[in-house]
Amino acid sequence: MLFKWPSRPAAATAALVIASATTPGASEYFQPNSTGIKLQNGYERVYIQPFGNNGMRIRASIMRDPTGNEWSALLDPPLEGPGGNNGLNHDITISYQGNATIRNGNIVVSVNLGILSFFHVEPNGSTTLLTKEYTDTKAIAPRFYAQDFRSSSFRSQFDFASDPNEQFFGAGQQACCLDHSVNKKGQVVDLINFNSHVTLPVYMSNKGYLQYFNMPSEGRIEFGTFRTRHVASEATVVDYYITTASPGDYDALQEQFTAVTGRQPTPPDFILGYQQSKLRYFNQTQILDLAQRFHDEQVNVSLIVVDFFAWKFQGDWSFNPDFWPDPAGMAATVKELTGAEMMVSLWPSMEDLSVNYLPTQEQGLLATTRDGTGISDSFAGVYTRLIDSTNPAAREFLWKRLNDSYYSAGIHNFWIDQADGGTLGEAFENNGQAITQIPYARAFSQYFIGTQEGAGKMYPWFHQQAINEGFANLTGKDISTQCDHMSLTRSTFVGGQRFCSYLWSGDTESRFDVLLQQITVGVSVAASGISSWTLDIGGFEGLNVDTDEGRELFVRWLSMGVFLPYVNRSCSLLPDPRQSFANTCPNEPWSYGEANLVIIKKYIALRYQLKPYVKMLFEMLQRTGKTIMRPLYYDFSLSDLFVADGTQANDPTIVHQFMMGPRILVAPVGELGVTSKQVYLPILSDSAKGQGLTWTHWWTEKDFGTGGKLVTVDAPLDEIPVFYLGSKNDILSGSL
Ligand SMILES: *[C@@H]1O[C@H](CO)[C@@H](O)[C@H](O)[C@H]1NC(C)=O
Ligand SMILES: *[C@@H]1O[C@H](CO)[C@@H](O)[C@H](O)[C@H]1NC(C)=O
Ligand SMILES: *[C@@H]1O[C@H](CO)[C@@H](O)[C@H](O)[C@H]1NC(C)=O
Ligand SMILES: *[C@@H]1O[C@H](CO)[C@@H](O)[C@H](O)[C@H]1NC(C)=O
Ligand SMILES: *[C@@H]1O[C@H](CO)[C@@H](O)[C@H](O)[C@H]1NC(C)=O
Ligand SMILES: *[C@@H]1O[C@H](CO)[C@@H](O)[C@H](O)[C@H]1NC(C)=O
Ligand SMILES: *[C@@H]1O[C@H](CO)[C@@H](O)[C@H](O)[C@H]1NC(C)=O
Ligand SMILES: *[C@@H]1O[C@H](CO)[C@@H](O)[C@H](O)[C@H]1NC(C)=O
Repeated sequence: MLFKWPSRPAAATAALVIASATTPGASEYFQPNSTGIKLQNGYERVYIQPFGNNGMRIRASIMRDPTGNEWSALLDPPLEGPGGNNGLNHDITISYQGNATIRNGNIVVSVNLGILSFFHVEPNGSTTLLTKEYTDTKAIAPRFYAQDFRSSSFRSQFDFASDPNEQFFGAGQQACCLDHSVNKKGQVVDLINFNSHVTLPVYMSNKGYLQYFNMPSEGRIEFGTFRTRHVASEATVVDYYITTASPGDYDALQEQFTAVTGRQPTPPDFILGYQQSKLRYFNQTQILDLAQRFHDEQVNVSLIVVDFFAWKFQGDWSFNPDFWPDPAGMAATVKELTGAEMMVSLWPSMEDLSVNYLPTQEQGLLATTRDGTGISDSFAGVYTRLIDSTNPAAREFLWKRLNDSYYSAGIHNFWIDQADGGTLGEAFENNGQAITQIPYARAFSQYFIGTQEGAGKMYPWFHQQAINEGFANLTGKDISTQCDHMSLTRSTFVGGQRFCSYLWSGDTESRFDVLLQQITVGVSVAASGISSWTLDIGGFEGLNVDTDEGRELFVRWLSMGVFLPYVNRSCSLLPDPRQSFANTCPNEPWSYGEANLVIIKKYIALRYQLKPYVKMLFEMLQRTGKTIMRPLYYDFSLSDLFVADGTQANDPTIVHQFMMGPRILVAPVGELGVTSKQVYLPILSDSAKGQGLTWTHWWTEKDFGTGGKLVTVDAPLDEIPVFYLGSKNDILSGSL
C-alpha cells in the first residue's frame, strides 16, 4: 500500500496557481493586483506589499521610511511566489482617511481608516476575516511606539484581534518544564535567548494563518484573550509577514513560510544515525577507546562528539595539545573503527589568556557592552567577552581558526554551544556559583548589527552562518539544498533552517516529566519552521546510571529518540579535578547493565533500519518545508474533534504523542515502572481511509482499525508504543 502526502503543485507552478489538492475548487489565480500600499499617517508610515505565495509583508516606522536595509531573515526574492526585489515600491498611497485593498493569491489586506484587516479568500470567492489590528471604542492604538529621546529607535507594541477560543502554535522553544503546551493561547512568550529558551516570533493559528515578526529584537508575545500583542524592546522598523491557507492546512502554511525564510538542506547520511556525546571525554585516548568499544560491541554510531574545554583557554578554538596531541590521527582512527564522523564544541567566549584575544580585540571583532568593558560574563573563574559573529570579519576570523584546528584535521562538524548571546546564555555564574535568583540585568551587549535589545535574538543565527559560510567557502559547493557536514546549535532564529545546522533543546533535567514535556517542545519548534531538532537522550543533568530508575529512564528516553529527526546521548556529573569539567560519568550504551545493553542495541539497530524513512522525510522537508516531527493537530485536527479539542486544552493524551512523518505514531512512556500504556489513535482522514489505511501496532502487527479510540498496549522497556500506517516494508525501504 502506497501512502501519499496530499499532492501540491510543484515549485515551478506554485507561483501560478493558488489552488492545491488541499484547497479544492480554488482554481483562479490572482497576481498581486498592486505592488504595494503606502499608508502615510502623520509621522507614521506603513508599507503593505505582496510577499511569497498567499503572503504579505508589512513594514511600519515613524519619522522616516525604513531604509530597506534593516536586518531581515526573509529571503528576497522568496524561493516561491511573487514579491521579490520590490524595495519599498507601492502604487497606492493613502492617508489615514483613505481606504485601500490589496490581494495576493488567497490573502487580502484592507486598510480602512488606518486600520489593517487580513482576510482569507475562500474557494467560492468569499472572504473570511483572519485577524485585524485590535481596536475597541476605547483602547490603546494597535500600532504603538515609544521613543527614547537618546535614540532614533523605538519600542513597539502591535496588537491583533484574536478570538477567545483561537489556538496558536509555534513560538519556538520555551524552557522547561511547567509548560507542556502546544497551544500557546493564554501564554506570554518572552523573546529573549538563554539556555534552552529559543523562542521565535512566529506562530500559526487554527483559523488558517501564520504570522512572523521579521525582527531580531528582544521583547515578548502575549497571546491574550482578545488580542495577540507583539512587543519589541527596540526596533527601527516593525516588519512582519502574514500568510494564509485553509484552516487546518498547516503543511501549506509551512510550505509558504519556508519559501520566504528558507528550507532545510538535506543532511548528510551519516548524521541520521546514533550520535554519542558526553560531558565530557577529556583526552584523545578516551575517544579512541570509545571508538574501539563501539566497534567491538558492534553498535552503530554515526557521530562522536568532543565537548567543551578540550581547549586550553576560552576563545582558542583549538585542542589543548597536552590532551589531544594528534586530532587528525584520532579522527582517522575513529572513522576506520566505526565509520563515524566527529564533531567538536566551540564556545563564543573569549578570555584574556587566549592567543586570539589580542587580534580580535585589536580588530574590533569582540562584542562590547554599553559600559565599555565588553565583559559580559564570568565562566570557569575568568571574565569573558564574546566574539561578535554578527560582524562578517569576525565570522571569517572564527572560521579560519576552526579550519586550521579541526576541519583540516578531518573534524568537519561543529557544535555551537552556549552561543545564546548577551551573557553566555546562562544565569550569571561566578566561580561555579550560579546566581540565578537575583534579577540581574543581562549584559548590555552591543554588536556590529545593533544592541542586545534591538538585535540580540539573532546573535546565535550568525554563528550558524559563520560555519555555513565556512563549509561553503572551503568546499566551493552550493550547500543550500544539501549538506556534507552539519553544525549543532543550542539556539537559532527564524530562518536558521536554511543552514546546514540543527538545534537541540539545551540542558534539560533527567526526569520523566521532562521527557514528556520535550515532545511539546519539539513539535512547537517544528511548527515554527525548524524541523531539524533533537535533544539529550536521558536528559542533560541528574541521571544516576547506578540506579535501576536512572537506567529505566534512559532506556525509555532512548526509545523516543529513535523516532526524532536526530538521536543524541548525554550525561553530566562526577568531576575529575585534573581538568575543567573533566567528568568521567559513563553514558555509553554499555553503561546501563547487561540486560539494558541488549535493549539499547535493539533500539539503535531500529534507528538504522528507519534511516531510509528518515532520509525521505528530510528530502520532503527540503522540497516542501513539510514538518518531520508532527503534533497530532497537523494530520488529524480536521478529521478528529477529540484531537482538535485535546490540542486546544493541551490535554496530555494528545500533546504527549506525536507523528514521525506521515506514517508513524509515537506515544513514549513517561512513567517509571509501568509495563503498559494507553494510546489515543486519531481518526484517520477520509482520504487515508479511502486508501485502506489502518493503525497497526509496531511490535505485534495487530490491526487497530481507523482510530477514534484509546487502546491499551503492552509497553515493556524494549517496546515503545508505536503504531504505523500502511505497510511496514514501505516504511523501512523509505519508499512512500
Ligand atoms: C473610508 O471608509 C470609511 C468607511 O469605513 C468612510 O467613512 C471614508 O469616507 C472612506 N474614505 C475615503 C477617502 O473614501
Ligand atoms: C485588489 O483586489 C482586492 C480584493 O480582490 C480588491 O478589493 C481591490 O479593489 C483590488 N485593487 C485593485 C487596485 O484592483
Ligand atoms: C463560500 O464559502 C464559505 C467557506 O466555505 C462559506 O462560509 C460561505 O457560505 C460560502 N458562500 C457562498 C455564497 O456560497
Ligand atoms: C586520559 O584519561 C584517562 C581516564 O579516562 C586517563 O586514565 C589517562 O591517563 C588520560 N590520558 C592522558 C594523556 O591524560
Ligand atoms: C566566505 O567567502 C566570502 C567571499 O570571499 C567572504 O566574504 C566570507 O567572509 C567568507 N566567510 C567565511 C566564514 O570565511
Ligand atoms: C583551511 O586549512 C587548510 C589547511 O591548513 C589550508 O590549506 C586552507 O587554506 C584553509 N582555508 C581557509 C579558508 O582558511
Ligand atoms: C548530546 O548530549 C550532549 C551532552 O549533554 C549535549 O550537550 C549535546 O548537545 C548533544 N550532542 C549532540 C551531537 O546532539
Ligand atoms: C549498522 O548500520 C549499517 C548501515 O546503515 C546497517 O547495514 C547495519 O545493519 C547496522 N547494524 C546494526 C547492528 O544495526
